[in-house]
Amino acid sequence: MPRRALMKNKLALSAVLFCAVFAVAVFAGLKTLRAQTAAATVPGKWYSAEQVALGEDVFNAHCLSCHGVRARGAENWRKPLASGAYPPPPLDGSAHTWHHSLAQLRRSVENGGAAFGGQMPPFGEVLSEEERDAVIAYFQSLWPGRVYEIWSEKINRRK
Ligand code: HEC
Repeated sequence: MPRRALMKNKLALSAVLFCAVFAVAVFAGLKTLRAQTAAATVPGKWYSAEQVALGEDVFNAHCLSCHGVRARGAENWRKPLASGAYPPPPLDGSAHTWHHSLAQLRRSVENGGAAFGGQMPPFGEVLSEEERDAVIAYFQSLWPGRVYEIWSEKINRRK
């Protein structure tokens, strides 16, 4: 092949390669952007509005019967029952739920109360990880802003 034709071929090949790399980069960039938009968190919170919406459905289906409307808890939840067990506490930031880190809350929902002699059933088999995180997002969305702030700054470091 004459030298010039060879050069031309090389140029064409480089152009094709460049376009291919460029296309892949644009595609990857768009994908990341879309993933970020979908997972956009509520400002200052670890969770997204989508998680809160899903979590509300999960809560109403699986938790409301014990923890009450909008997670307000059973009446007299501080007073042990005759059996010695405690009634379901509020999860809405008015009781002690905010004294636990996200890791601890995840374990409570996954394993229930059996580990510490409690009554709460485990949800590890009943709900997916996505649903369990969403339901935590939901009841945390009911916490007063200041309670969430203190939790986020001081409590949530614990494993
Ligand atoms: C059968 C009643 C019952 C159901 C259903 C139930 N819980 Fe509970 N939950 C309890 C009780 C009672 C406690 C107090 C600890 C114990 O006895 O296990 C508790 C404790 C908790 C705690 C720890 C609260 C704290 O302040 O330490 C969390 C978090 C929690 N529940 C979340 C949930 C979520 C989320 C659901 C639904 C997916 C749910 N619970 C469903 C009865 C229930």
